[in-house]
Amino acid sequence: MSEYVLKLNDFLVSQTDEKGIIVFANDDFCKVAGYTIDELVGKPHNIVRHRDMPKAAFKDLWETVKRGEIWTGYVKNKTKDGGFYWVYATVAPMVDPKDNKKYYLSCRRKPSAEEIKKAEALYKTMN
Ligand SMILES: Cc1cc2nc3c(=O)[nH]c(=O)nc-3n(C[C@H](O)[C@H](O)[C@H](O)COP(=O)(O)O)c2cc1C
Repeated sequence: MSEYVLKLNDFLVSQTDEKGIIVFANDDFCKVAGYTIDELVGKPHNIVRHRDMPKAAFKDLWETVKRGEIWTGYVKNKTKDGGFYWVYATVAPMVDPKDNKKYYLSCRRKPSAEEIKKAEALYKTMN
């Protein structure tokens, strides 16, 4: 399936509630994943999950942010039309000052070809 290679200034942002339901996605996220904002809001974030991603990566992500720490890692995601794209993601736990509710924010940038190669090789050994 066809790969979308991120541009240097692509910056994909999404926000979830405590359970991983998407509450916000920016234009770059929608553009790259191939969804409209209305198709994303209210859906679980695994809507973009690619089958090549090891379960352990997301287990680590969730354990890290639930501890209140920041998780960083390489993620291969699926696009709506069945393609894929690699990102380097930083996921942070946050608290909304208005209602004290927890939420999570992920910001993603372009990984280098070398970084993708390393992540690919590592994830193959994890699946
Ligand atoms: C803020 C945030 C962003 C996330 N971004 C992604 C993502 O881009 N791709 C992805 O597959 N999972 C992402 N996840 C993890 C998903 O919630 C989910 O754990 C993962 O897709 C595995 O799906 P599963 O729990 O159904 O096995 C994100 C989680 C959070 C909290």
